[in-house]
Amino acid sequence: MIRVLALALSLAMPRPSVSSSAALASMPEGGAAAICGLPRSGKSRIAKAAADQLRRVVVFDPYGDRDRLESAHGHELYPWTGDLWSIRELALHPGALLPDPLRLVVTPRALDEHTLGQDFASLAELCWHAGNLDLVAEEASLYSRQAASAVLRLTSGGGHARVRLILITQSIGMLSIMAARHLTHVVALNQSDASDFKILAARCGKAFTRKVQAWTPGDRPNIWRLGAEREKPC
Ligand SMILES: Nc1ncnc2c1ncn2[C@@H]1O[C@H](COP(=O)(O)OP(=O)(O)O)[C@@H](O)[C@H]1O
Ligand SMILES: [Mg+2]
Repeated sequence: MIRVLALALSLAMPRPSVSSSAALASMPEGGAAAICGLPRSGKSRIAKAAADQLRRVVVFDPYGDRDRLESAHGHELYPWTGDLWSIRELALHPGALLPDPLRLVVTPRALDEHTLGQDFASLAELCWHAGNLDLVAEEASLYSRQAASAVLRLTSGGGHARVRLILITQSIGMLSIMAARHLTHVVALNQSDASDFKILAARCGKAFTRKVQAWTPGDRPNIWRLGAEREKPC
């Protein structure tokens, strides 16, 4: 019975459409994306499908080790795959960011927002120096404001180091205003807060925002690319 319910629920989930993961995987150098949607709307699944198309990927995942543990105990989770590193270990061995292909999952020292912000900023700095990779920030709403300057460096200047950034967030309004302003791509599932729609309208235009407001479970994600909108952001 539980299996049948789980199957029915997973059928109602938006499949990671070819276009959303392909749009993320084909961002130009220096591209910066946000995938936004409420819990279990399918954000991480889309990011994983995009990462599967990329050669050098680093994932900052606050829940990276916890998810693997739960998955090993049979819970229905789909943890990021790749070599698991703590940020502490990685800071001591930054050469671990040089191989090609590369797939690392990096975990923080602790889960409070202050430490998460510091650890993400440290990882962003290491990635900047390694260059030529995609950095995926899982659960970015927890720390992107605390790491605002690191996020801004990658969203506004990632092209200098051939680093692209994918921010996964429950709410686009939880990103810093500056980070949101520099996004080149937005993949939106469901957003519910008026402040999210305001930021979406400012970055992606009113027509896109209306599509996000109309989104219902099972719909494909809405994708916005800088320069591709017919309507100018307001
Ligand atoms: N590879 C997969 N195969 C089947 N179901 C999956 C897979 N990855 C995630 N799911 C399911 O899809 C739903 C959305 O998962 P996820 O993308 O992790 O959500 P979010 O990151 O938005 O919280 C969950 O119900 C999850 O169990
Ligand atoms: Mg997720």
